[in-house]
Amino acid sequence: MTLICSTASRSLAALLAVGVVLGLSAHARAQHPQHIRPVPPVPAWTPGELEISLSAIPRTQSILAGASTNVWSYTGFLVNGAPGSLVPVANSFLGPTIHVLRGQHVTINLSNQLGEPTVTHLHGLDVPASVDGHPSMAFPSGTTSTVSFPVLNRAGTYWYHPHPDMTTVEQVQMGLAGFFLVHDAEEARLNLPSGAFDVPVCIQDRTFDASNQFVFNPNMLNGFFGSTMLVNGVPNYVHQTSSRVHRLRLLNGSSSRIYKLAFSDGTPMVVIGNDGGLLAAPETKPYLMLSPGERAEIWADFRGRPVGTQIVLRSLPFSGAGTSQGVALDVLRFEIIQGVTENRTLPATLSAITPYRLQDAVNASTPKTYAINLITSGGMPSFTLNGGLFSMFDVAANEIARCGTLEVIRVTNTAGAMQIAHPIHFHGRQFQILDRTVTAAGLANWNTVKDGYNNSGWKDTFMIMPGETVRILLRHGSYPGLFLYHCHNLVHEDMGMMRNFRLDP
Ligand code: C2O
Ligand code: CU
Ligand code: CU
Repeated sequence: MTLICSTASRSLAALLAVGVVLGLSAHARAQHPQHIRPVPPVPAWTPGELEISLSAIPRTQSILAGASTNVWSYTGFLVNGAPGSLVPVANSFLGPTIHVLRGQHVTINLSNQLGEPTVTHLHGLDVPASVDGHPSMAFPSGTTSTVSFPVLNRAGTYWYHPHPDMTTVEQVQMGLAGFFLVHDAEEARLNLPSGAFDVPVCIQDRTFDASNQFVFNPNMLNGFFGSTMLVNGVPNYVHQTSSRVHRLRLLNGSSSRIYKLAFSDGTPMVVIGNDGGLLAAPETKPYLMLSPGERAEIWADFRGRPVGTQIVLRSLPFSGAGTSQGVALDVLRFEIIQGVTENRTLPATLSAITPYRLQDAVNASTPKTYAINLITSGGMPSFTLNGGLFSMFDVAANEIARCGTLEVIRVTNTAGAMQIAHPIHFHGRQFQILDRTVTAAGLANWNTVKDGYNNSGWKDTFMIMPGETVRILLRHGSYPGLFLYHCHNLVHEDMGMMRNFRLDP
């Protein structure tokens, strides 16, 4: 990777605050402290019911015509468990798709062969703090870290990716990411499209140099915007298929780019699931907003399309989200190569979701407020959350909660001279979006995206536009310890737009 603009330079102040001599690379900085991640105490589950060994390694992958690209990739094998629990993604730098059952006990051994520290986060999963991939758990190259946990989450499309402090975006840009799919009985009852018609779609953008190598040239304020769209690691992605219903599991695995997704032929965007699994009922939208880290499951009904039909999934223009955001582009193309008749009904009810009630929150009348702001620290502008840049173990008074409590949290994007859109993500439990409000000044831009927000069901990441305030209801999990919330624009995350929250028993 050609590193044109180092993400290591969070800011002078932040670097000095952690006692790092200026001039050391992010890699040198991240090697201190080094922890071998402790295996969590084993409660009443059987570790190894599903055991997977993964390596994070440099390798090459043929992506464009001509020279192969140097990538970093998760590669793995099944140590113990049902065949089919680990499915490699063809022709891709993406890590294998991990399939688990709710309630299953999973052990993952991760061998770091990157030449620099890493740690892996299971995005969206409710796991103990010691398993969650906190940057303080980054472990050195040449060592292996093992995590074990029960799968508490409901069926859904989750994912895994690196989470070391200040080097997350570089490691993800190099290719480290994969799907983590949870299945359960509630979902199985619905008889949704399966097999070849259950299609994980990881949407990413990359820039290549003349010798087909990744170029990472972010704009420090807006992030990284690649010139080539990749789907599951493949450019100009064409999915040849038959005229059936498809379950598309969309993941925005891009570092910064936000998509406004719609089908070129007017096929409706029928959303059946999002970050935390199936919605209560399907929702048809004119288009779907998907910001980095977010997932959405689509009931893509291609029945009745004659052989030869081309359907492009594209991103439509929108405004005000930041420089380089909102550019129209094509993501992938479906090509109908076989006509079939399929009898399949979109279920009217997908899952049981009880809405949280504001009055049940422990802080119903005193919402926690986490403001997004742009500060200048050490001469460099940085977006911040809750007034401060990330510092490894720092927790503010309003970032502490009791395990199991329901809280209302307001995230505001109304301060500062420069406001752009951000994807805000909380580790731990899936939450519900209570409401969104927008200032008069933000309204016109907000109107270009608002009909595509997926505000229903369970979320772990939401997009927030300039001028917007989003209130969420979050019932904290039962695992105590240090967890993260942060901007999932990975350039912002590495700049320090990330904070800890602490759960006390
Ligand atoms: Cu997908 Cu803390 O991130
Ligand atoms: Cu996460
Ligand atoms: Cu951000």
